[in-house]
Amino acid sequence: MNGVANLSLAAQSRFGKIAFVDLAAQQRLIREGVEKRLKAVLDHGRYVAGPEIEELEEKLADRSGAKAVVACASGTAALIIPLLARGIGPGDAVFMPAFTYNATANAVLITGATPVFVDIDPTTFNIDPADLERRIEEVRVKGSLTPRAVIPVDLFGSPADYRRLSKIANREELFMLADGAQSFGGLLDNRSVGDLAPATATSFFPGKSLGAYGDAGAILTQNMDDREIWESIRWHGTDSARKNSVRVGFNGRLDSFQAAVLLEKLDIFDDELVARRQTAAIYNERLSKVGAPQRHVEGAVSGYGYYALRVINRDQVASSLQNMGIPTAIYYSTPLHKMPAFEGYAPDGGLPETEKVAADILSLPMHPYLT
Ligand SMILES: Cc1ncc(COP(=O)(O)O)c(C=O)c1O
Repeated sequence: MNGVANLSLAAQSRFGKIAFVDLAAQQRLIREGVEKRLKAVLDHGRYVAGPEIEELEEKLADRSGAKAVVACASGTAALIIPLLARGIGPGDAVFMPAFTYNATANAVLITGATPVFVDIDPTTFNIDPADLERRIEEVRVKGSLTPRAVIPVDLFGSPADYRRLSKIANREELFMLADGAQSFGGLLDNRSVGDLAPATATSFFPGKSLGAYGDAGAILTQNMDDREIWESIRWHGTDSARKNSVRVGFNGRLDSFQAAVLLEKLDIFDDELVARRQTAAIYNERLSKVGAPQRHVEGAVSGYGYYALRVINRDQVASSLQNMGIPTAIYYSTPLHKMPAFEGYAPDGGLPETEKVAADILSLPMHPYLT
């Protein structure tokens, strides 16, 4: 409890009440630039498909090392579009962790495919490659589903073990779609999220490390050929003239206002990332007696969308922190295979490591303006 008590003094005497994510502090810094960008959209009037979209896609590609970027209406749209583009659907197995936000499983189910839940590594909280291999083998032996894809999730910003996952995906001929909704800015072996898997979906939900002022997302790819079909699906499945329907699609577009906000925020993103990493380093150092902070695979640097650690007596720690004016959150207290919408896909024997981590995980305030 000592570490918590020390944190309390700092929190109360110097900083008053602490925000879990401080979007207001960020807005004060960028407001003028955002207003200029929004005014430009009002002036040109192209609220959909304005010039901001292409500008954003190019800058996101530069920042991430992706060959091409397709901006989308949300992170969920960014997950659905690449799956649809690959023809993934009924009868197909898509391997994914159950320790994630529900959008990952919803995206799979919306295509008609079946999510096959894989256990996590109890220290990184990300998909366990050894368990993935076991689950693929199980699906092959059962024979009722065809293994088609794997969706590793970079939980809390920490890149999954793509070195091992890529080998498995290649050997098993699985399409690997990274769910990087929480990890934009993360690195593995000096390569950015967006350059770690053939396709990466990310989210720019307002609370994410790069967040719009509404819903937004993007797909990042290493394969230029993907781009055309993804652009078609995000625009109701139309041809490049946007007239004839050539496949099934939906309205998965990003709008110009959100792109304008993201462009302004992208300018300060790298400075913010430095601040997030400094905060994480302080947490890691000072909280090692309180709990076990998330471990990152060798060579990985988290984008620190969130900061999470496993703690004994979670409820007690959370309520002590609450009393000190320090908010906490639990991502995720209920893994997906325990939720009514997905429990039909729960594996026999459950997911032991996932269930243990869900019982003691705790997230602390994480944002660039945390002093
Ligand atoms: C892991 C994960 N996947 C997918 C999503 C979906 O993103 P969005 O809310 O932008 O649709 C989120 C965001 O909340 C997420 O955290």
